[in-house]
Amino acid sequence: MSVYDEVQALLSEVRSFETQSEEELEQFRRKFLGSKNIIKPLFSEMKNIPPEKRREFGMLLNTLKREAEQKYNALRAALISQQQQRREHLDWSLPPLPMGGGSMHPITIVLQEVIDIFKSIGFEVAEDREIEDDWHNFTAMNTPEDHPARDMQDTFYTVHNPHWLLRTHTSSVQARVMERQKPPIRIIAPGRVYRNETISARSHCQFHQVEGLYIAENVSMADLKQTLWYFARRMYGPDVQIRFRPSYFPFTEPSAEMDVYWGLETEADYRITKGTGWLEILGCGMVDPAVLDNCGIDPDRYTGFAFGMGIERQAMLKYKIDDIRLFFENDLRFLRQFSPVIH
Ligand code: DAH
Repeated sequence: MSVYDEVQALLSEVRSFETQSEEELEQFRRKFLGSKNIIKPLFSEMKNIPPEKRREFGMLLNTLKREAEQKYNALRAALISQQQQRREHLDWSLPPLPMGGGSMHPITIVLQEVIDIFKSIGFEVAEDREIEDDWHNFTAMNTPEDHPARDMQDTFYTVHNPHWLLRTHTSSVQARVMERQKPPIRIIAPGRVYRNETISARSHCQFHQVEGLYIAENVSMADLKQTLWYFARRMYGPDVQIRFRPSYFPFTEPSAEMDVYWGLETEADYRITKGTGWLEILGCGMVDPAVLDNCGIDPDRYTGFAFGMGIERQAMLKYKIDDIRLFFENDLRFLRQFSPVIH
């Protein structure tokens, strides 16, 4: 093949070259336009061309060079605009990976069940602060300083002011509500409480309670029992057995604790109910007249009942969880086992 034919062949290669691949285009560039391109040495062939044909050969080489440049620039531009278009079609607001849905914390599930039951019979949800003052947590609840009952609840006090503390029970919300609301009062107060206790599988320095308070004229112990029995049937099924045991709390008189019969089928049932089959779920009683008086409600006119239940123990039984610490560690392997959040 003569040099002339060789150049002609290269020219038709350039003319017919098409690509959408960056890599192929780069190969093309190196071959025709790079520092060691194939055209350059052809210029030095000029001296071997008969003089009358040199002009034509020179023009042909220049055409080859020019067309290779044009072809490269055109394909490069097409490639760039194609990439841009592709980028414009992407929705940059989409999350980078499929996002795992969250799940409801078991404490939230149980809290919500309790709240729903009481809401359905006319109780309103009252929430209040976790950093509380001594008066609302203790004194108003008929537990003045030096009262031995203060020892029942080991307390975290704030460092800068010993009158401030982390509430030890949601009973403090009773005082907050009575201060701002006149009877009839019918509230539940769900929330977190804190006690200075050694952390173990059975107890923690933080946990959850739901407080209940009903104050009106002529509220009696029968109302208390009927309300809690209704709650127990909704929460634990229509055949649930409950029992009330006399107890003591400074803020109620008389006071009681309510147990639910859980059964003694498994080893865990045995351990958690201490071999009795009965599970203590709440404290309750008739609001002590001194509490009403402390909170500005006339104890000669109004009576009321109150109760306070722990949530962790109920959740532990419901989901067969044998270590209370799991609730607070936020281990995803634990949390993912509960029902997904429904939007
Ligand atoms: N505050 C009590 C506790 O944390 C629970 C309690 C008992 C609340 C009796 C009440 C009640 O309202 O009447 O152990």
